[in-house]
Amino acid sequence: MFAVTMSRPGGPEVLGWGEVDPPVAGAGDVVVDVRAAGVNNADLLQRQGHYPVPAGASPILGLEVSGVISGIGADVVGWSVGDRVCALLTGGGYAEQVAVPADLLLPVPAGVDLVSSAGLPEAACTVYSNLAMNAGLRAGETLLVHGGGSGIGTFAIQWAKAVGARVVATAGSAAKLDRCLELGADHVVNYRTHDFVAETRAATGGVGADVVLDIVGGDYLARNIETLAPDGRLVVIGSAGGGGAAPLDLGILMRKRASVSATTLRARPHAQKAAIVAAVRAEVWPLVDLGRIRPVVDSVFSMTDAGHAHALLAAGATVGKVLLTAPAG
Ligand SMILES: NC(=O)c1ccc[n+]([C@@H]2O[C@H](COP(=O)([O-])OP(=O)(O)OC[C@H]3O[C@@H](n4cnc5c(N)ncnc54)[C@H](OP(=O)(O)O)[C@@H]3O)[C@@H](O)[C@H]2O)c1
Repeated sequence: MFAVTMSRPGGPEVLGWGEVDPPVAGAGDVVVDVRAAGVNNADLLQRQGHYPVPAGASPILGLEVSGVISGIGADVVGWSVGDRVCALLTGGGYAEQVAVPADLLLPVPAGVDLVSSAGLPEAACTVYSNLAMNAGLRAGETLLVHGGGSGIGTFAIQWAKAVGARVVATAGSAAKLDRCLELGADHVVNYRTHDFVAETRAATGGVGADVVLDIVGGDYLARNIETLAPDGRLVVIGSAGGGGAAPLDLGILMRKRASVSATTLRARPHAQKAAIVAAVRAEVWPLVDLGRIRPVVDSVFSMTDAGHAHALLAAGATVGKVLLTAPAG
């Protein structure tokens, strides 16, 4: 089969298209003929040599795909050749075929086309595991989403609104803020021109956000905690601001009875990922089937043009997901 190859760590120009060994379905796996793959920031870091591939994962880029099952390994129940699926991966998605543990598969939701569904698994699993399973966001609470125009942010806004939360979203341009409002955000903040702490307080009658979903990391830590309401929960999933280390004021946390947690989906043990996928299928997919959450796709490139897709995502002007399609599909 063919896959996106990497001649060496470096810029988008190191990505090529070449022949590699096809995957084999081990026990519990299926082989998926890939229709499309989602592009994630982790792929850009891995391309640059900054994201070590987890033990046992494919060295080929790609953490999520959609496609059609073409092979079934031993001990797989509930899936058949020909099923249209999307899947969470530990790697290997930028290819014509990928082997996937069956418990990381999701059906393509009703009303979602096969290509667009490739952009759902990573965002759905990251958002649900952090906001529902970890932070326990409830109807009537307020969520502050940083990076509201990102692939993660566009999903988080829609999911939080679908479960009855109020949403404040930050983004860095008027165009992105408009899209956040279209997706259901109640209040938006341009973090380049306005103070998100003051804006969130104003939008919540001075109370603050019950949950903050943060992609910026250390640079935002103190202000995120300042933004939290009593009993608030800060969940950190990225360090787009550049740094991981920052002083933590435990006094404020204690007074607010607040908590801070940080996770990365890719590094979780397989059993945790499978539990997240099962929970997403049970609790989130019905909302997608109903059209309450839709995939937000910024652009679609051929896998043979993966370098341009990486350059576009890195430029930071996209809203929602960038996808790659397998050329034969
Ligand atoms: N922990 C996990 O399991 C996990 C899983 C998936 C993704 N992530 C992380 O979640 C983040 C979003 O991922 P994605 O794929 O959805 O990203 P994306 O679509 O590429 O969007 C990222 C957006 O973040 C915003 N941003 C960048 N630097 C910023 C800063 N310093 N302050 C505020 N906003 C900033 C930019 O929008 P503006 O124009 O608004 O600045 C940018 O477009 C990434 O950091 C990614 O690494 C984590």
